[in-house]
Amino acid sequence: MIRDIQDEIIRIKKENDICILAHSYQGHEILEVADFVGDSYKLSVDASKVTNKNILFCGVHFMAETAKMLSPDKRVFLANPLAGCPMAEQMEPEMIEQIKKREPDRKVVAYINTTAALKTVCDVCVTSSSAVKIVKAMDDKKLLFIPDCNLGSFVQKACPDKDIMLLNGGCPVHAAVTAEEVAEAKALHPNAKLLVHPECRPAVSEQADYAGSTSGIINYAKSSDAKEFIIGTEISIAEHLQYECPEKRFYILSKKIVCPNMKLTTLSEVYNSARSIASGDGEAFEIIMSDELIAKARVCIDEMLRLGG
Ligand code: 13P
Ligand code: SF4
Repeated sequence: MIRDIQDEIIRIKKENDICILAHSYQGHEILEVADFVGDSYKLSVDASKVTNKNILFCGVHFMAETAKMLSPDKRVFLANPLAGCPMAEQMEPEMIEQIKKREPDRKVVAYINTTAALKTVCDVCVTSSSAVKIVKAMDDKKLLFIPDCNLGSFVQKACPDKDIMLLNGGCPVHAAVTAEEVAEAKALHPNAKLLVHPECRPAVSEQADYAGSTSGIINYAKSSDAKEFIIGTEISIAEHLQYECPEKRFYILSKKIVCPNMKLTTLSEVYNSARSIASGDGEAFEIIMSDELIAKARVCIDEMLRLGG
């Protein structure tokens, strides 16, 4: 049954010039029909190179918006219109503009998990895999890092020569993990390496053998000689790694690290979206942005690609 739906999606996308981009947090059955899979940095680079007329994004809203900004002449669709990211919605542009008025020499660094509207008031964008590299590459010393204070403090530690101001935002999924859960997982699996995403609190990240982006965690686990790993990011990553590396053992750090928004997209929705794009019935959820918004919000993404590419 699943195979039949996947075959249909593959047929429809080929016949209708549709490219499917999927974030690594999506389920395995979706990754299997995608043309590009990766973390948010890789997907933004992939989106800028896509040659198809249509992009179908399996992930959350800000990612599809980013793809639209990087490929404004293409039609970009989000497989599930309800898949948002609470962190991306946490701050309004007016709030950042007020800080900029008070401190005009402070450059604003925005995590890519932000709305396009917020990006219009930011100087440079970063992803979890490019944040440290880009902040180091910036000539400016005084920065405001938004919205994730956990990723921000991870960057702060890696760039001690910078004066980085943080605000109180973050990913509710990763931030829910506690230091006590780390102690419990380590006691249960004393030989396992702990790999965590820097969206986790410092009390968690600081205990990790490796802290880094989704693809950083995947690469570390695949290339390490170790045989056991505790995975401190969305649980789908532990599942994908277990599938790809059957000779190793992967444990989840906490049952709480399930992103409900990433889980909203199902294979049926990918199928229905692809069918609607093909038939032009208007049912697929298209990302519509004005040229002005794209032009303004894209400046900080282009700056990220310039400094980190
Ligand atoms: P990355 O894809 O940048 O690792 O971020 C993880 C995440 O939370 C996606 O929303
Ligand atoms: Fe947003 Fe966190 Fe889910 Fe990523 S894991 S999409 S940051 S809520």
